[in-house]
Amino acid sequence: MPAADTTGPGSGPVDSTLDAPAASPPSGSASSAEPLVRLRDVAYWVGGRAIFDGLDFEVARGKVTAVMGPSGTGKTTLLRLITGQLRATRGTVTVAGEDVGRLDERGLYRLRRRMGMLFQNGALLTDLDVYENVAFPLREHTQLPESLVSRLVLMKLQAVGLRGAARLMPAELSGGMARRVALARSIVMDPELLIYDEPFAGLDPIAMGVVLRLIRDTNDALGLTSIVVSHDVHEIGLLADVTYLLSGGKVVASGAPVELREHESPMVRQFMNGLADGPVPFHYPAPDLAAQLLDREVAG
Ligand SMILES: Nc1ncnc2c1ncn2[C@@H]1O[C@H](COP(=O)(O)OP(=O)(O)O)[C@@H](O)[C@H]1O
Ligand SMILES: [Mg+2]
Repeated sequence: MPAADTTGPGSGPVDSTLDAPAASPPSGSASSAEPLVRLRDVAYWVGGRAIFDGLDFEVARGKVTAVMGPSGTGKTTLLRLITGQLRATRGTVTVAGEDVGRLDERGLYRLRRRMGMLFQNGALLTDLDVYENVAFPLREHTQLPESLVSRLVLMKLQAVGLRGAARLMPAELSGGMARRVALARSIVMDPELLIYDEPFAGLDPIAMGVVLRLIRDTNDALGLTSIVVSHDVHEIGLLADVTYLLSGGKVVASGAPVELREHESPMVRQFMNGLADGPVPFHYPAPDLAAQLLDREVAG
């Protein structure tokens, strides 16, 4: 059960400007004002190449924080640094006050139990029905009696609107339904932090809307903190409290989505407004078209 007394969203003043990702905590306030996740000056090198160099990133408790950026910029890598699947080459990664880079196996295991993850292509187990897929983490990590497992699974399936689908097999589900079952599974252990990698990929517009609504409602109803990696600019604009835009191994902009759409950097505006042309040109460099066509005619 989520503890009813955890600091939920909306418990503080609504800050619609969000000019800084995390305001400094007022003196005397509890640690709930501390960001849940903080990366400081992180570098990550693989094969002699820097994926990140000087990355600073924070996730405020209770919020939905989005991470955007072109393919291959390191969004999935960032999530793996947060879950401790990868260790930073330099800098610190702190989650719930723990220095992830210094945790041993047991420490990491303990920390990961507090996180729910919906990874890219995070497939369901095809041999198990919907109910057993959602029950799986409980069976792996707890010794709860069957009556309690059943109650937890049915509650989570109810939350994603699929209690009636408990006995379907994954092959019988639409893409959107499968994503919702995966969401139910990722919240069955009552995590504090939910991490989504490309949750909208491959969904039709209606299923996208459903998943978007679920991410928001799950975050707010359970008093969680969410990180959503996506390059779906429109969906993120509707969903996120704070958005980070990554490029070239760094954060190039952060703020509320509406602020990024009006950002001073034309490249940030181009990305956030989903424009095909701008500082990142539509055309690969080429000689002048007329000159080239004329050349052809002369040559031909
Ligand atoms: N295990 C690996 N070995 C070498 N390069 C990798 C590895 N994993 C990812 N990369 C490279 O790191 C970069 C970032 O990858 P990724 O985090 O998956 O990007 P994104 O999720 O933003 O598309 C890419 O250029 C990718 O080719
Ligand atoms: Mg990725």
